[in-house]
This record gives sequence, C-alpha cells and structure tokens, in this order.
Amino acid sequence: MILNRLKVVLFIFTLLTAGTAWAVDMDSAVEARQAFMKVYEFNLDLLSDMASGDTRFNRRRAQVAANNLLALARMNNTAMWPIDTDETHPLLRDKTSAKAQVWEEVSDVAYRHATLTRTLERFAWYGTRDARSLKRELKNVQSACKGCHQRYRSKR
Ligand code: HEC
Repeated sequence: MILNRLKVVLFIFTLLTAGTAWAVDMDSAVEARQAFMKVYEFNLDLLSDMASGDTRFNRRRAQVAANNLLALARMNNTAMWPIDTDETHPLLRDKTSAKAQVWEEVSDVAYRHATLTRTLERFAWYGTRDARSLKRELKNVQSACKGCHQRYRSKR
C-alpha cells in the first residue's frame, strides 16, 4: 500500500514537472502518447479476439500480450504529457483528444493509471491460464481503459 501511494506521488510529481521540459515539442509528445495508446490497443485486441473466440486461445500468445500490456503500464511516459497539451490548445485542436481535465485532476489520472497497472499485474498472473480465465479477467482490464477514457478523452 505504502509503495503504491509512493508511486502515485512520484507519478504526480513527474506529471507536474513534465510541463517544464519543453525540449520536446508538443506535437511529437502528442504523437508519442497516441502511439503508446495504440500499442496498448494492439495487444488488448489480440486478447479480446481470443476471449470472444474469433481466434483460438493460445496460452503462450496470451501471456506475451499480457506481459506487453504490463510492460507498457510500467513505462514512465510522463514526458509525453506536457502541461496544457489538451484539446483546447489552439495548436492542438485537431491533433489531440485529451481533455483539459487530465491536467486539472492529476491525482485522479494517476490513480487510474495505478489501477490499470494493478489490474494488469493480476491479469498477467491469473488471466492467461485458459480461455475461461482470460474471458473473466480481461473485463477488468477493459474497464480500466474505458473508465479513464470516459472522463479524460473526448470523442471526436
Ligand atoms: C489514465 C488514463 C488512461 C488509461 C488508463 C488509458 N488511456 Fe487510452 N487514452 C487516454 C487519453 C487521455 C487519450 C487521448 C490522448 C491524445 O489524444 O492525446 C487516450 C487515447 C487512446 C487511444 C487513441 C489513440 C490515438 O491514436 O488517438 C487508444 C486506442 C487508447 N487510448 C487505448 C487505450 C487502452 C487499450 C487502454 C488500456 C489498456 C488505455 N487506453 C488506457 C487515457 C488513458
């Protein structure tokens, strides 16, 4: 628990200080975080296809995808979120769908990120044993993604 709380505090700190690191321009930061999210999606889709039966369950492939998701969640990508690079920024209006709330509710964003990480830790352990466990556990991962999107990503 203490470790988790420490991680959240560290995450918030890096989010707050990320704004000063303007060496990387805003456009590439936005592109990088969207690419990051796409790699999440790619691995999640492999798993969803197995869960729905579109592709046959394969334990090794499921484990690789689960490990990849966890590796992504553990990556520190705070530099991809420079302060105020949201959809209301005049230069980013057509480029990002990140809402301004991302930077207004930093601790909640960090909490949701930590929740996803914890869910993926569990998933990598319990979710890849067989098709049934995959189906059961994947729902938690999907809702951790969805919960953050509903609040912080606008539909465009
Ligand atoms: C802590 C919040 C949060 C979590 C958790 C999260 N996302 Fe995102 N996601 C965002 C935000 C904010 C954006 C908008 C980024 C932008 O457009 O700059 C986004 C954008 C995306 C996009 C669109 C990328 C593009 O090309 O525009 C995809 C796909 C995506 N997320 C997939 C996922 C998946 C899959 C998961 C779970 C494994 C996930 N996300 C978890 C916040 C989150």
